[in-house]
Amino acid sequence: MAIILGIESSCDETSASICIDGEIKSNIIASQAIHAKYGGVVPELASRAHQQNIIPTVDQAIAAAKIHKNEIDAVAFTRGPGLLGALLVGTSFAKSFALAMNVPLIDVNHMQAHILAHFIDNPKPNFPFLCLTVSGGHTQIVLVKDYFEMELLGETLDDAAGEAFDKTAKILDLPYPGGPLIDKHAQNGNPDTFKLPEPQIPDLNFSFSGLKTAILYLVQAEVKKNPNFLNEQMDDLCASVQSRIVSILLNKLKKAAKQTGVKDIAIAGGVSANSGLRNGLIEMGKKYKWNVFIPKFEYCTDNAAMIAIAGYQKYLKQDFIGQEIGPLARLGV
Ligand code: KG4
Ligand code: ZN
Repeated sequence: MAIILGIESSCDETSASICIDGEIKSNIIASQAIHAKYGGVVPELASRAHQQNIIPTVDQAIAAAKIHKNEIDAVAFTRGPGLLGALLVGTSFAKSFALAMNVPLIDVNHMQAHILAHFIDNPKPNFPFLCLTVSGGHTQIVLVKDYFEMELLGETLDDAAGEAFDKTAKILDLPYPGGPLIDKHAQNGNPDTFKLPEPQIPDLNFSFSGLKTAILYLVQAEVKKNPNFLNEQMDDLCASVQSRIVSILLNKLKKAAKQTGVKDIAIAGGVSANSGLRNGLIEMGKKYKWNVFIPKFEYCTDNAAMIAIAGYQKYLKQDFIGQEIGPLARLGV
């Protein structure tokens, strides 16, 4: 039997999870409300909140899994990518825990973990599969050949998809994080109301900065004519923006599927919680006869279950790391 403690602290969620023989028994997430009033994540405040939250979060994860801390066989933690100060908290905790309990330490790549969240529940994708990983910091199309053998096929040249949602929300006067709010408004709106540009970016890369500028100019022009424009048109604006972001993402995914011939197609990361993206992928999957994999909501945004499951796979290979390890703000898949 293998009991893995997973720790996630790369951005603004402090999370701990217990995985027993590949099954997630607990996944506790302490979100940091403090950032909302600043309109984005403040790295210094994130680090401090992680420092406060980490021990209670781990305690809760252990209690919810109904185990004792002495039974833990290994501790897996997010090494990067992410905010350095935030990563340092989780990394230092994991190193101290491993040292104190005399158990092995496992480093996990956060972007790989978002993808490996697909190995928590059934059905699981078959290798090789394609994964569109869309979060607040990344937008990538990855060819997943094996658990830890991944090839980056394309990525964003500027803003990430989550950033496009959040920055648009700011223009629309919606609070941070705006992605889920745009999603909510979009469900009552007409996506064909406002015509927004689809950037012509070569290969499998993305760009979202032009879209953001187009929305800004549109809102500025309309508000000049009607100061109540945002209030009156919020649902249609959100539906139009969401539909464009989703079409940019899915068109590239379609291109990647065509190029590689791969039929198992997954999405991962915070933006994979978006209803437009989830529904759009299901529709496209039916049309092109793909096997589509969409994570449960709790495994879309940052969580430690995905770190624990990735850690479990490394544990099976006895792929451990020494105490000299440190976090990395930048880390490729
Ligand atoms: O993966 P994640 O929790 O953190 C990072 O690693 O970045 O992703 C957070 C991002 C934020 O930009 C947030 O606005 C976006 O995911 N997000 C959504 C939705 N839920 C979260 N974007 C659109 N629609 C949603 N329902
Ligand atoms: Zn993430």
